Amino acid sequence: MRLDGKVAVITGAASGQGAAAARRFAEEGAAVVLLDWSADQGKAVAAELTEAGRRAVFHQLDISDEPAVAETIAAVRAEFGTIDVLFNNAGIGYSSNDTYNMTTVLDTPPSHWRKILEINLDGAANVTRHVLPIMIEGGGGSIINNASINGIVGMPGADAYTASKGGLVALTRVWAVDYGRKGVRVNCICPGSIRTPMMADAIKSAEDEEHFSNNLLGRMGTSEEIANIALFFASDESSYLTGVILPADGGWTAQ
Ligand SMILES: NC(=O)c1ccc[n+]([C@@H]2O[C@H](COP(=O)([O-])OP(=O)(O)OC[C@H]3O[C@@H](n4cnc5c(N)ncnc54)[C@H](O)[C@@H]3O)[C@@H](O)[C@H]2O)c1
Repeated sequence: MRLDGKVAVITGAASGQGAAAARRFAEEGAAVVLLDWSADQGKAVAAELTEAGRRAVFHQLDISDEPAVAETIAAVRAEFGTIDVLFNNAGIGYSSNDTYNMTTVLDTPPSHWRKILEINLDGAANVTRHVLPIMIEGGGGSIINNASINGIVGMPGADAYTASKGGLVALTRVWAVDYGRKGVRVNCICPGSIRTPMMADAIKSAEDEEHFSNNLLGRMGTSEEIANIALFFASDESSYLTGVILPADGGWTAQ
């Protein structure tokens, strides 16, 4: 029970890595607050957890809507009293191709560029802005940002996505600097290719499969593997870590 008695807020908890983290954190004793703009899936994950005897609630939220974030986090505080862990995980990526261009700066219309940054970067800042004072008042906490290896190395295309994830890597460091003495640790996971709904549209052939498995372990990662890293950063086992940018990519960036 590594998160016994803790309250954990997870964004993008309806699917993929966020849903896996909600399950993993709840298994380890946390009360989990699942936030997502996808209501049906989010409610289903929360219901699965409550049926298993865990404490879990779902709130529908678009993290790019700042006033809605303020209202939701205030409601969470009213219900749970405090927030100990925040997993800034929600994001849009490759499966959003039909809606938002995931391509070079030359081919990304400014409206798409703005939307990707509004969700992936501003969204994480919006939630953090409202959670941080609660953590500080409670004596500290752990914030985990889910960025991407796109934020630490140059990869072809997906320029707006890359900017958003690079921004999240930079924010991890500055939040660690600003809030370490207030008891808040801030760390960042940079996943490589993880088999989630986000990647589903990007894998259309055996060549795509091979492309995304081209790392030292020869396979894509799983949501559960990322959830285990988030759990480590959330728990006191990582009590001396802050400002860490951790690639979780089967060694892809080591090649
Ligand atoms: N899958 C990968 O290979 C991979 C690699 C690197 C980084 N990531 C990052 O991991 C995170 C989780 O992605 P995933 O792979 O689990 O994908 P996913 O699509 O399964 O999950 C993303 C979740 O975020 C939610 N979401 C998106 N925009 C939102 C918004 N504005 N407000 C609230 N919720 C919103 C979606 O509804 C969804 O439930 C993302 O930030 C993504 O960029 C994924």
